[in-house]
Amino acid sequence: MIDSPKLNTLLSIYKDAGVDEVISPTSHNRFREIEDTLPPAPLVLEEKKGPPIAPLISPKVAYATANTSAQSAQTLEELKTALMAFEGCALKYTATNLVFGDGNPKARVMLIGEAPGADEDRLGLPFVGQSGQLLDKMFAAIGLTRQEFYITNIIPWRPPGNRQPTPAEADACLPFVRRHIDLVSPDFLILVGGTATKTLLGGRDGIMRLRGSWKDYTSEAGKKMKVIAIFHPAYLLRSPGQKRELWLDLIKIKHSLINAGVELKNLL
Ligand code: URA
Repeated sequence: MIDSPKLNTLLSIYKDAGVDEVISPTSHNRFREIEDTLPPAPLVLEEKKGPPIAPLISPKVAYATANTSAQSAQTLEELKTALMAFEGCALKYTATNLVFGDGNPKARVMLIGEAPGADEDRLGLPFVGQSGQLLDKMFAAIGLTRQEFYITNIIPWRPPGNRQPTPAEADACLPFVRRHIDLVSPDFLILVGGTATKTLLGGRDGIMRLRGSWKDYTSEAGKKMKVIAIFHPAYLLRSPGQKRELWLDLIKIKHSLINAGVELKNLL
């Protein structure tokens, strides 16, 4: 038993040390008391949002996937949906929009360019920028507008900085282009520039040698068509000295179309 003066001394020592509560007969979980004041933890951790990352797909798998997917499309709308779901071309992940096609899908003339630029990427339509405006003028000069032709590109997504698409990117998209040709089913194919020419005609020769003469082309589905390559309008903007060659090619195209009974507009 502690006598009262000693107890008083002891209590005042405790008091000076900051003790303000006597030990209770039941134990307290002080950590639990802190937890109870915290907001409840979320059940599912929130997903961090960032730019989508292109999956790594080998060129072989990309081509095989593109082939199966493109072949199953029975309409242009289905082909567009299949392209939107296609993961085999990383350009999709840096582009803003898919640029599918424009013009008359029932036309007898189909133009194929390289890849969208900045304006096309923004608007989701092919050939609407500076070179597209020149292309429209070139074809209007022989009586063809987008009511008389259909137009698309080898690559439906803009390559960053407008660089040329790589052969691997072109190969990955090729089954879709081939299906696109069969779904439009034109009689005349016009390849605009070196990339479209190389990708669809293959071989060693470039646009300088291949341009300006009609060749036979058999589509994937076996339809026979005439194909011709012309200079890309972007090249003509950089090298206006080549406009004469382009004019000769356009006149040749015009005569062939008239001979085949394609209706041309009198726009001049
Ligand atoms: N150049 C192309 O080849 N295609 C476009 O759509 C625009 C510019």
